[in-house]
Amino acid sequence: PKLTVVTRSGDESTVDVADGLTVMEAIRDNGFDELLALCGGCCSCATCHVHVDPAYKDKLPELGQDEDDLLDSSDHRDENSRLSCQIPFTPELDGMKVTIAEED
Ligand code: FES
Repeated sequence: PKLTVVTRSGDESTVDVADGLTVMEAIRDNGFDELLALCGGCCSCATCHVHVDPAYKDKLPELGQDEDDLLDSSDHRDENSRLSCQIPFTPELDGMKVTIAEED
């Protein structure tokens, strides 16, 4: 499946995502170094914050309590904010677009 990533400067690129990766891993492994993902996907850093395409919101796993709390610590949270390490990139998310959130 394919994922489109928009960087902070607005550059858009589409990458092919291998099975079993999270959105965070897909972004990081494709060389987008502005997504720091400092905790490596443990849901404890919030540096993997992205804004998701509203059209796909219903297909995403529910927002977890830890994720919700961490997102609250960001100055850039909006209604489409998620932590990308908490989203397994399943085939039904094919074509989704995510925008890397501004740095806190
Ligand atoms: Fe740290 Fe997602 S990588 S919370």
